[in-house]
Amino acid sequence: MALAPISITTLAAMKARREPIVCLTCYDAAFARLLERAGVEVLLVGDSLGMVLQGHDTTLPVTVEQLAYHSACVARGRRRALLIADMPFLSYATPERALAAAGQLMQQGGAQMVKLEGGAAVLETVRRLVSQGVPVCGHLGLLPQSIHRLGGYRYQGRDHTSADAIRHDALALQEAGAGLLVLECVPAALAQEISLMLEIPVIGIGAGVETDGQVLVLYDMLGLNPGTPPRFSRDFLVGQDGVPAALAAYVQAVKTRAFPAAEQTQW
Ligand code: KIV
Repeated sequence: MALAPISITTLAAMKARREPIVCLTCYDAAFARLLERAGVEVLLVGDSLGMVLQGHDTTLPVTVEQLAYHSACVARGRRRALLIADMPFLSYATPERALAAAGQLMQQGGAQMVKLEGGAAVLETVRRLVSQGVPVCGHLGLLPQSIHRLGGYRYQGRDHTSADAIRHDALALQEAGAGLLVLECVPAALAQEISLMLEIPVIGIGAGVETDGQVLVLYDMLGLNPGTPPRFSRDFLVGQDGVPAALAAYVQAVKTRAFPAAEQTQW
């Protein structure tokens, strides 16, 4: 019997029973099939595709059209996993632009939820999207689309003031109607606190093991990127006999909370 499709309600139930949610980025139909077969529950068509597929230094050049294209590819390969697409840089600078971009990602790209970066600055937009039936995933901590303002890919929330701002933004996003939150590169203790504080599931990347789920960039966890991988990632292909085995190892490691381990964690 086919398993029921995964929805935001499924993820909320998983949070309630403390079952870790497994998420990976995905950019095409072939990987969508492999990821689902391995047991990945959430496929994120991240604007990281600008870096890992297109070879840019940042995610900034990625367009709504490109994300809709990759989302549609993933949608054709998926059956069960929840499909989230990123809203690219400046595509949600106003609520009107956000509605148009989300419409394209959902209608042409088959996305079931959209993700956007930021806290206070995006609350009105989140409310507007949700009021029009668009499920929203927030993204706090390290915000790759703000890389030039942040001055580098660094951990966020390490001092009292910025930790407080992240806590505050997390609650405000939930109140605005976000159904899910990604926390990127924040200390493990802060991520744990926010995961316990929020009713909505929190998916971590570089945020310790105590979030409600984990996400990694697919090309990082398969060791496909040249150069040093981010400290919070792991090459799951090492010691495995192929991609399906590496994906299964990732699913198992997240489900058993063996990943992230101490060496991938910022305290
Ligand atoms: O674009 C992306 O891949 C992301 C993940 C790193 C969470 O936003």
